[in-house]
Amino acid sequence: MTDTEDMKRAAAEAAVAELRDKLQPDTVLGVGTGSTVAHFITALRPLKGLLDKVVASSDATAGALRRNGLPVAPLNDVHGIDFYVDGTDAVNRRLELLKGGGGALTREKVLATAARQFLCIAGEDKWTRNLCADGTVVVEVLAMARSYVARRIAGAGGQPRYREGFVTDSGHQLLDVTQLPMTTPLSAEQELNGIPGVVANGIFAARRADLLLLADAAGKVRRLTPED
Ligand code: 5RP
Repeated sequence: MTDTEDMKRAAAEAAVAELRDKLQPDTVLGVGTGSTVAHFITALRPLKGLLDKVVASSDATAGALRRNGLPVAPLNDVHGIDFYVDGTDAVNRRLELLKGGGGALTREKVLATAARQFLCIAGEDKWTRNLCADGTVVVEVLAMARSYVARRIAGAGGQPRYREGFVTDSGHQLLDVTQLPMTTPLSAEQELNGIPGVVANGIFAARRADLLLLADAAGKVRRLTPED
């Protein structure tokens, strides 16, 4: 196994340890998407008897949860989410995130925002001092508006690329944007949301993580809360 996989697994196991004592009979857990989350689902298996309802951020995650015997429920059937656990493509010291590499950003953002507490799990390769440095962001768009949104992003100085052949679980398309000038993650998130046809974008600044479990190559996990 690579160092990267070891770091993902260490962070995922730390999240399960973090949750173990907090689970109550009516706790609702939200689960993100991606390879770090896959380790989390495996590590969660021993706790399945303690979990009543688990809400998935993607069809892939719902399938993995079911295969591991965990009880999947739709967001519409729960009163809210107590804890949401997800990976990230990049994270800064304010615990703002760039997400969407796996294409599940919109549902992930809904669950993260609905959650009382958002735990982000990552290896230290995801750590960055400046989330805006490369102007990278994934944008989910209505299919009929893709070219229009791409032109607006190009007009703002970004380089949008259509993720061809990929359709999100909600039936939308993705633009992988680079070099978008960003003043702050929050302002860039809001500006992108202001373009008609944008469903959501992968900047998680309005709803950043509450806790980051960040694993290093030696398997040590740091527990970080947001710094302003
Ligand atoms: C999916 C995501 C993932 O959380 C992100 O891409 C990280 O994935 P991985 O854990 O595989 O590195 O945002 O939309």
